[in-house]
Amino acid sequence: MSDIMWDSSLSVGVDPIDEQHKMLIERINNLSKAVEKYMGHTKIIETLLFMTEYTDFHFSTEEKYMKELDYPAIANHLIQHEEFKSMLRTLEEDFREDGATKVVSKSINTFLGNWLLNHIKVVDVNFGKFLREKGVELTE
Ligand SMILES: [Fe+2]
Repeated sequence: MSDIMWDSSLSVGVDPIDEQHKMLIERINNLSKAVEKYMGHTKIIETLLFMTEYTDFHFSTEEKYMKELDYPAIANHLIQHEEFKSMLRTLEEDFREDGATKVVSKSINTFLGNWLLNHIKVVDVNFGKFLREKGVELTE
């Protein structure tokens, strides 16, 4: 697949979150490349774990602020984060069982890529608006 590119349509208006989204997109792109080019089991697992690790870091940043600020739409947002994490776990299981199949490659592009873009454009943009209204400065 062609790389996902970050552009201003993905901006949530809060710099540290935009920066984290850029990193997340880069890691999805790397994962997608590793699978498409059959870079070998170890390399793919490594890329996948790298992606999972960053996802956890990024989601906890958002969740920390949502909790601290009593964000009204937190419940739905947390459900979405859990959904993504569970997609990553399924992907890892599928890959460990079947290797770098077309199905695995497709789920990275369709599920992870599309999910993330939709999530950023709707749910994260709303959260960004909330943060700006509250005048919160994010430190990470
Ligand atoms: Fe989010």
